[in-house]
Amino acid sequence: MKIVITAGGTREKIDAVRFITNRSTGKMGYAIAEAAAAPGRRVVLISAPTALAAPAGVEFIAVESAAEMAEAVRREAVDARLVIMAAAVADYRPKTVMPGKFKKREGNWVLELERTEDILASLGQSRHPGQVLVGFAAETDDLLANAAGKLERKNLDWIAANDVSRREIGFGSDNNAITLLGRGGRKVELGFGSKRELAEKLLQTVLPRD
Ligand code: CTP
Repeated sequence: MKIVITAGGTREKIDAVRFITNRSTGKMGYAIAEAAAAPGRRVVLISAPTALAAPAGVEFIAVESAAEMAEAVRREAVDARLVIMAAAVADYRPKTVMPGKFKKREGNWVLELERTEDILASLGQSRHPGQVLVGFAAETDDLLANAAGKLERKNLDWIAANDVSRREIGFGSDNNAITLLGRGGRKVELGFGSKRELAEKLLQTVLPRD
């Protein structure tokens, strides 16, 4: 069984020395890849830059931007049975990447951003029969309602709802709390635990049985 997992926060270049990114550290995605690695499974981890070492027994693909991640995911997802998008993909990138290093001037600097591709929504549109798609919803407000909206809009099987407003869990923490929402109103409370424990529980729920 081929399993594709994404992790980390993408980097969107502004110029030769600057980029826009987010607070993702990749810990949740790496924990899932580690938990998924087992005989009989081919696990591919597509990762934006993180400070973590690639888990043993996993094929590792390093990417930087949302566009690079989109290309790698498109290529690897074709024959994957399960795709878990734990990466924090930038929703916007600078419209133009300045060559060299931008030099400061008088006055303000207005940076124009354009939308990136929604990788998971594209997968949801092109999925093949039997392929299981899992997304993450990082929310600060209306956690379950927003997560349910993403499940529907992106045509997923499961979404892991993550409250990133709580300091003891989420970005950078070794712990997390996840509620899994599935098609047809299914709701599986994974509760609070280490990211590794939650990775195991998440896989128990989302792994195709046949
Ligand atoms: N995602 C993606 N491509 C993007 C943005 C997000 O594939 N360009 C994926 C993430 O990996 C995650 C899920 O979509 O699994 C939810 O991402 P999130 O940023 O929380 O949701 P958005 O769709 O960006 O919605 P909003 O800005 O309303 O929170």
